[in-house]
Amino acid sequence: MAEFSQFGGGGRLRHLLTLDGLEPDLIRELLDRAGAWLSRPGELPRRGHELQGWTVANLFAEPSTRTRASFELAALRLGADAVNLDMMLSSRAKGESVLDTIYTLQAMQVDVFVIRDAEPGVPEYVARHVEPQVSVISGGEAHLSHPTQGLLDALTILQYKGGFRDLAVTIVGDVRHSRVARSASTALAALGVGELRLVAPAELMPDADEFPGALRFESFDAGIAHADVVMMLRIQRERIAATPQPDLARYHELYGLTAARLHRARPEAIVMHPGPMNRGVEISTDVADGPQSVIRRQVTNGVAIRMAVLAHIAATRRGCAL
Ligand code: NCD
Repeated sequence: MAEFSQFGGGGRLRHLLTLDGLEPDLIRELLDRAGAWLSRPGELPRRGHELQGWTVANLFAEPSTRTRASFELAALRLGADAVNLDMMLSSRAKGESVLDTIYTLQAMQVDVFVIRDAEPGVPEYVARHVEPQVSVISGGEAHLSHPTQGLLDALTILQYKGGFRDLAVTIVGDVRHSRVARSASTALAALGVGELRLVAPAELMPDADEFPGALRFESFDAGIAHADVVMMLRIQRERIAATPQPDLARYHELYGLTAARLHRARPEAIVMHPGPMNRGVEISTDVADGPQSVIRRQVTNGVAIRMAVLAHIAATRRGCAL
């Protein structure tokens, strides 16, 4: 099969399927643009005209609250029409094939497809088949990639920490099945993060050839020591076929973030979680709602990042650098 590229002209994105291969300057540009879409607390959200006349279709085949709502709001706030469809896109779906669905929506003049699917390869498959003016953005691909989440996590860290070079970032939980961890680590590596640590029980640790350069810990207490950023992950039960599933009380004891454990990190450490949270499992309620939690800021940043990505792609199509 021919080599696929998510880039259009001039090193700019036509699609966004993965953060792999993005130059640090492009990542920084997207973070910068996103920052400009944020308003102050209490103010109305910022709006623009970058997508005036465009139509964005959200095609989500897995559950989503934050990602889907924020793509929709991002599209609307940039002047686009938005349509949301719950669907099974992958080849497991019965009836109408993936491409029939895409071609049907393309006939309604959809400009951007945002796609979430449990099966690897679906976003690229669609991107290979759409018309030249149409773009595809991944809203989460299997356990592999969640590029806009990686960007919003990087933006959140940048806002609170001012940079990446001197930081120790600890990602904790089901790293093995997490597209969030993969995209965050790709973004952080590109931005030159000081130290990336992974904390997980052996069965939820990724294979050795993944997450190059990351330090691996089975002990949460060791992995959180003096960390600047602690990113908690949900157990991706839907991606764990083997039974038995982990014992949740035992899991909380070993890998739950409690106030006592958070004391081992730096006093000004921030706590992140992509959502949805399982309070009392990977994170205790007092920490989730506590002063070090930036979980809701991540959500706010998610809309801004998606506006930045959509506006970037629109500018690529117009053939200008924005
Ligand atoms: C994550 C996802 O879907 O990968 N959620 C999100 O997009 N904010 C994380 C998860 O489901 O655990």
